[in-house]
Amino acid sequence: MELGPGEQLVLRGLLTVGKYPVLVASVAYLLNRYAGWDIPAWAVCLGAFGVIPLVVFVAIRIRYWQIFSAAARRGAIIAPKWKGKWPGNVDVLYAVLESFRHGYPGELLWERFNELGPTYRFNILWDFGVLTCDPAIIKVSTPAFGPSEGMLYHSVPMVGEVFQEQMHALLGTGVFNSDGDMWRWHRSMTRPFFSKDRISHFELFDRHAEAALDKMSERLRTGYAIDFQDLVSRFTLDSATEFLFGACVHSLRSSLPFPHNVSASSPFAATTTALSPVSECDRDKAEAFATAFAAAEHLCAERATMGKVWPLWEMRKDKSREYMRVVDEYLHPILEEALRKKAQREHEEKARGVKTAEEADDIEEGETLLDHLVKFTSDLTVLHDEVLNILLAGRDTTATTLTFAVYLLAMHPDVLQRLRTEVLEKVGPKQRPTYADIKEMRYLRAVINETLRLYPAVPFNIRVSVNEGLLPNSNGKPFYVPAKVPHVFLVFKVGVGPPVSDISLVEWHIQCGRCTAGRSIGDQMEYDPDRFLDERVNKYLTPNPFIFLPFNAGPRICLGQQFAYNEMSFFLIKLLQRFSAMELAPEAASPSVLPPKEWASAPGRKGKEKFAPKSHLTLYVTGGMWVRMTEAEEIDAGM
Ligand code: HEM
Ligand SMILES: *[C@@H]1O[C@H](CO)[C@@H](O)[C@H](O)[C@H]1NC(C)=O
Ligand SMILES: *[C@@H]1O[C@H](CO)[C@@H](O)[C@H](O)[C@H]1NC(C)=O
Repeated sequence: MELGPGEQLVLRGLLTVGKYPVLVASVAYLLNRYAGWDIPAWAVCLGAFGVIPLVVFVAIRIRYWQIFSAAARRGAIIAPKWKGKWPGNVDVLYAVLESFRHGYPGELLWERFNELGPTYRFNILWDFGVLTCDPAIIKVSTPAFGPSEGMLYHSVPMVGEVFQEQMHALLGTGVFNSDGDMWRWHRSMTRPFFSKDRISHFELFDRHAEAALDKMSERLRTGYAIDFQDLVSRFTLDSATEFLFGACVHSLRSSLPFPHNVSASSPFAATTTALSPVSECDRDKAEAFATAFAAAEHLCAERATMGKVWPLWEMRKDKSREYMRVVDEYLHPILEEALRKKAQREHEEKARGVKTAEEADDIEEGETLLDHLVKFTSDLTVLHDEVLNILLAGRDTTATTLTFAVYLLAMHPDVLQRLRTEVLEKVGPKQRPTYADIKEMRYLRAVINETLRLYPAVPFNIRVSVNEGLLPNSNGKPFYVPAKVPHVFLVFKVGVGPPVSDISLVEWHIQCGRCTAGRSIGDQMEYDPDRFLDERVNKYLTPNPFIFLPFNAGPRICLGQQFAYNEMSFFLIKLLQRFSAMELAPEAASPSVLPPKEWASAPGRKGKEKFAPKSHLTLYVTGGMWVRMTEAEEIDAGM
């Protein structure tokens, strides 16, 4: 019989502490037998069970004593602690999980920043963890900005064992989920694929963007709003599966969802389900793949919020197994086919007596990531893990950013019009955008950057300290942290504003210069793409690049940054070529997922939200982001 993850955790725990009751019982037995003592059975039982909490308590005390004395020796202090009411901060864990499900992303964690400063301790079940939004710490955690003080972090920052274990089911040992040599190997193998501007992808983006826009137009003409988040997620999924392994899952062929109060059996529902030329069977497998992958992703994200104790939610069985079986059913034949082709090629070359002239670093036109990877390895597991890692890293991040970009454009028609003017001037009303066009469109890039500043698709990041060391503290003595401690960086807050003590940086984040240190977060949340274009860039951003790091920096910087800008720019240009106006349609979403009424009085973005953002590994909008758009007039086309 195989034990579930939770059972294993409990068993390991029992084995670790189980020796103490056995020890107590044995000592009592020996004393009674040979030393003539007469300890009654109930006392032995009491001692045997009482010893467990005692041992745990003493072990924790000793660890803390060690930590505090190490800090004192180095003239440092320990970061202030978020104190819960219950032992082990169980109530804090519960509150954080609840807030993840129903609250505003990260809000509970920010409130503590106001109270405890930009760095605090977050101890769940007596485990030491650090939460920070302090750019000074981001700076030391990222070797790109200079040598890290006291070698706190390894030259290659680690994602850490706990995170790896949570993600293992989905990501195995791919680039996103490995450390050390394994990570270095994966990264060096995958990087060349992203290092060139792969013009060939534009043809692919064009096909899928066109399909998505047709689908939108068709639905909008029936008078219904569309869920833009759903639509753009299909666009990124179809594009990603095609450029990663050359087998598009064609999620854009299935029917779009309808507003909540429209039954799917309405007369329009049938007409919008385009018949696909792919066989039904393949299509079912592809659809099942997409659904199972999303479910596995969601599960891993839930695990990540629970920390080390996640297996307690999966006592009897590993919930990811079933999802991964479905994922593999689709993916394995594709991988095997790629390997078969490789073997055949090698065989033919041998037969002709020519040596493989293929340079592994050479990327050919139209080559998929899988084509590229089989030049390095024939290991099915490695290929499987790497392809899924990149799918996870690249798909939701771009979809989310596009969703929030359109959300913000719909709320700011002036920005929309200005961006549209840039599109029509630089690219024209119908032409397919080129790489050169995109490079020149500075306003478009500023719009994307401003979206990423307010809604960073990856709202937090984790690093584990390899050695003990000191962290900068702007309010006094440095903070001491022991080795192997997870640090969570809250990018969401970092992008939104630095600690309010640093006025010059706060200024960059708000619209005008008349801020004071006491201004609320709300003012820093003003949508203003111009901050990426005017004098504020040289004044704030250039000297402090780490205040805006949606892709992080250093050795683990996002591999797909350029790719993502290209894909998102391409889609936004095509969108604005086709549509000239947009408005949010919150009434189309189910009322149960819309922001609760009490949000309206909150400061900052929370008070402005028309849809409720949520965060798992990436940000997203619960219940979808519904919009209506107006197709551009023919007059535009004559420009
Ligand atoms: C708006 C879109 C995107 C955002 C905001 C984003 C953000 C990030 C962030 C914050 C990281 C973590 C870096 C770290 O741990 O220090 C990351 C890693 C990564 N991203 Fe992206 N990303 C985006 C799009 C993409 C795309 C399109 C791809 C590929 C097609 C991609 C591939 C990767 C990979 C492979 C890693 C792991 C790198 C490593 O651990 O060495 N990303 N990304
Ligand atoms: C659905 O809701 C919209 C907006 O609230 C309304 O205009 C429409 O009549 C409703 N449709 C149905 C079938 O109830
Ligand atoms: C947008 O941000 C990126 C860094 O992520 C930077 O390289 C680029 O110059 C920025 N562009 C504009 C127009 O702000």
